[in-house]
Amino acid sequence: MFRTRMTQMFGIEHPIMMAGMNWITEPKLVSAVCNAGGLGILAIARCTPQETRENIRQIRQMTDKPFGVNQILVGPGAKENIAVAIEEKVPIINYSLGKPWFVNDVHAYGGKVVGTIAIAKHAAKAVQMGCDALVVTGHEAAAHGAAATSMVLIPLVASLVRVPLIAAGGFYDGRGLAAALALGADGISMGSRFMVVKESMVHENFKKLCMEATEQDTLYANVFDGMDGRVLKTKEAQAMMKRGFPMVDAFKGALLIKRLMNLSLAKFAGISIEMLRAEEGHPLMVLARQAVGNMKHLKALNEGDVEGGILFAGQCCGGITDNPTTRELIDRVISEAEATLAKMNTQKV
Ligand SMILES: Cc1cc2nc3c(=O)[nH]c(=O)nc-3n(C[C@H](O)[C@H](O)[C@H](O)COP(=O)(O)O)c2cc1C
Repeated sequence: MFRTRMTQMFGIEHPIMMAGMNWITEPKLVSAVCNAGGLGILAIARCTPQETRENIRQIRQMTDKPFGVNQILVGPGAKENIAVAIEEKVPIINYSLGKPWFVNDVHAYGGKVVGTIAIAKHAAKAVQMGCDALVVTGHEAAAHGAAATSMVLIPLVASLVRVPLIAAGGFYDGRGLAAALALGADGISMGSRFMVVKESMVHENFKKLCMEATEQDTLYANVFDGMDGRVLKTKEAQAMMKRGFPMVDAFKGALLIKRLMNLSLAKFAGISIEMLRAEEGHPLMVLARQAVGNMKHLKALNEGDVEGGILFAGQCCGGITDNPTTRELIDRVISEAEATLAKMNTQKV
């Protein structure tokens, strides 16, 4: 058993969080993580406000444990989804990209705000803005890690701020948990590892690809969704690295997002104009690439299309070799971490 500032702050049994993963961290998986003693996070960036509310209520039917939502703050629907999460008094609101305007509203009902950062100097800013804890994401991570690896970033951030830290990027087993604690974190967040569990909706073809991948089998570039990010090395991901701007796909992808998010033409046009003027990181071209990325992600997740699909995935896929239940995974990570620390103690004597 590990008692850390993370388990204390969130009222959970184990210092293990499941990273919010758009499309993947659905109520069934979120509640499985919570019921196994971890912190499950529902990613809501893909949801309409109504879906956000329904998903939150579904989780509450499946678990009475604390859980969180994750929202990317610089895309369509962010304000509306956060407002729903606040109305529903979700215990933990985790955000990535952008600035949290809602900290006081969350604190007012006793909730916690967890910022996600990938650059050390952003940690102090996030704490200044009122974050209660931080997810610190290294380069190894699936999706949007920045240039520094977890090994470098976590101790740097631990020296800079006093709030609890959750280490993300490259963690998949108990040795990683023990290492994260040694580096100054209070627990870990795992994304890729939780894609390959029985309760995950990821198509079996892609679970198999993750299990077969080595640590070399990912690609890191800005062509997948407009921001620097890491995906599994599939045929389509390799082709995207060579192509120019995908104009036709961008148009198709934008229409898909408009439909999935139930946006009126006026709202869609308004968001596009807002994006064109955006100051930080999300101009229209990024949004267009994001739309293409989403389309290809859905091909991977739902259809298992290993030719045309892409999937965000981290270097730690090299260490993922099985498809356990969520509870088996969490129990195993904890017992491995305990054994690792015990072994380190023995070696010292
Ligand atoms: C398929 C997929 C979708 C993701 N979607 C989101 C998201 O919506 N919001 C977010 O903050 N991070 C997202 N991430 C990144 C994860 O939250 C996390 O930072 C990453 O998986 C950690 O690295 P690891 O895969 O090495 O554990 C996503 C990751 C994956 C694999």
